[in-house]
Amino acid sequence: MRHLIDIKELSVDEIDELIKVANDIIANKEKYSHKCDGKKLATLFFEPSTRTRLSFEAAMLELGGNVLGFSESSSSSVSKGESVADTIRVVGCYSDIIVMRHPKEGAPLVASEKSTVPIINAGDGGHNHPTQTLTDILTISREKGRLNNLTIGLCGDLKFGRTVHSLATAMSRYSGIKFILISPDELKIPEYIKKNVLEKNNIEYLETKDIEEYLPELDILYMTRVQKERFFNEDDYVRLKDYYILNKAKLEKAKKDLSILHPLPRVNEINTDVDDDPRARYFEQALCGKYIRMALILKLLEIK
Ligand code: NCD
Repeated sequence: MRHLIDIKELSVDEIDELIKVANDIIANKEKYSHKCDGKKLATLFFEPSTRTRLSFEAAMLELGGNVLGFSESSSSSVSKGESVADTIRVVGCYSDIIVMRHPKEGAPLVASEKSTVPIINAGDGGHNHPTQTLTDILTISREKGRLNNLTIGLCGDLKFGRTVHSLATAMSRYSGIKFILISPDELKIPEYIKKNVLEKNNIEYLETKDIEEYLPELDILYMTRVQKERFFNEDDYVRLKDYYILNKAKLEKAKKDLSILHPLPRVNEINTDVDDDPRARYFEQALCGKYIRMALILKLLEIK
């Protein structure tokens, strides 16, 4: 039985295969509409979510399966003091696969050690978010036709942004990748990502505060929200939240074939005047999330 807790657990070949299946689902939806007949997916969300939870639910429904779960832990027995381990053992009796989001780093890993069904990490604190990365990679491959030889700008909250950590980890395995890490000093990417991921894989990167200087070089600009819920101090959040605001005027210097991505939700970091620029691809990206999650469900349930 396989879980998906960290993107590293999937080889590059397995990611390629998931992309292939997702593209086939997009082209031949009917072929997949009964693949999960009789199967149930449980969503256990101990933290807010719109896209991740609903795209997993839509994915399972489009595969012919059913969904159950909770979107607020206050409505589950967790509010009575039940442990994650016990919750998981019980939910495994009612479902074939579990998607879990939790504010504590490592909670889905602990859950997977107790689970009798596959567990998918849908975000654990400021740590990892592997299925957002699969979404991002499918989007990049569809936009660019390749996953190598790309200059990728990661911009915003690189410290607490779990999607950034998983994406940097995954993209570091492709060749010719260069990262421009754009953040205020307080929100720089963690040292462990620099040492154990970027430097270990000999990935070229530079850190800067200045989005405008490097914008003309980028093939991908991955914007992120400042992660309000991870701050200890409201004043720090208020000071940093509008550090970057991308707008139409700033994009004049960018490449014509830049792809602007964002895991969403957006707050102020991308002005709405960017939305109708053909380079804005974040809503297409959200759609990709459903298809790659369909492919992932099939893989973990071992359905051909
Ligand atoms: C992201 C998350 O939850 O980490 N959202 C998502 O899953 N699309 C990004 C965010 O909340 O900023």
